[in-house]
Amino acid sequence: MTGTEPWGDTVTVEFDEGIAWVTLNRPDKRNAMNPALNEEMVRTLDHLEDDDRCRALVLTGAGESFSAGMDLKEYFREVEATGSVAAQLRARRTGVEWHWRRLAFFSKPTIAMVNGWCFGGAFTPLVACDLAIADERAQFGLSEVNWGIPPGSLVTKAMAATVSQRDALYYIMTGEPFDGVRAARMRLVNEAVPAERLRERTRELALKLASLNPVVLHTAKVGYRFAAEMTWAQSEDYLYAKLDQSRALDPEHGREKGMSQFLDDKSYRPGLGAFDRSK
Ligand code: COA
Repeated sequence: MTGTEPWGDTVTVEFDEGIAWVTLNRPDKRNAMNPALNEEMVRTLDHLEDDDRCRALVLTGAGESFSAGMDLKEYFREVEATGSVAAQLRARRTGVEWHWRRLAFFSKPTIAMVNGWCFGGAFTPLVACDLAIADERAQFGLSEVNWGIPPGSLVTKAMAATVSQRDALYYIMTGEPFDGVRAARMRLVNEAVPAERLRERTRELALKLASLNPVVLHTAKVGYRFAAEMTWAQSEDYLYAKLDQSRALDPEHGREKGMSQFLDDKSYRPGLGAFDRSK
């Protein structure tokens, strides 16, 4: 860890051609999320918002696990043992702050790369990432009913936002694990690929996202997330406002360039790929 970078203990970050590979780093505990990791992730995401080496973010886990969910010992038992309501609220707040809020609205595109175990609380950051690619053999599960609670935090909301009611209730109520292939079939992740292709496929997708206009991508994803919960009439007004906001905030004037390269220069087809941002 350098003087200004907040990761290096329970989280690591590597930079590679505009991609920040953010790795949950408690492999001995299968990357279970304890309060220390949650705090480090909030600080890491905060830092990366403002770090030009990050134009797309990949979230993954060290070793054989994406994340085994909330840390049953440190997040549940030890926080409850303090007897402090304030301590419990703080632990919950810090968790959801990055599991959902910071990731869902992160100013750069995000991809969850599910490399192994993915349980319980890990479903929230999985779904809060814009896209997700899994190892075909990764094991997912809403194991909470197996140890005595309904899914905690925003896990149920994350399921409702991605998969069908039948699949959501089946896995919420049985606690049965499922693999990456099944996760892709029910659209909890975009794709499942063999382990040896996981990093390469994720990198390819991250590089594509990193090459596109960041203001446009950010307004597009935030627009999607809010409109999903609005009426059609509210969406009409809000999404036109987002469109105008995107144009006003874009220092590259992408809309004008893109149109001109198609209509005047005839140098590309928007339906077949992106225009040249460097011109
Ligand atoms: N909370 C706290 N500790 C956890 C953990 C969790 N969610 N998941 C794993 N660990 C710890 C284990 O206690 C063990 O610690 P120890 O070495 O000090 O005994 C270590 O990580 C390795 O776990 P282990 O169970 O031996 O690994 P495994 O590879 O055989 O199994 C899992 C991996 C993920 C299947 C299994 O650890 C598991 O079921 N974890 C709980 C998953 C869960 O219910 N998560 C929901 C929480 S909301």
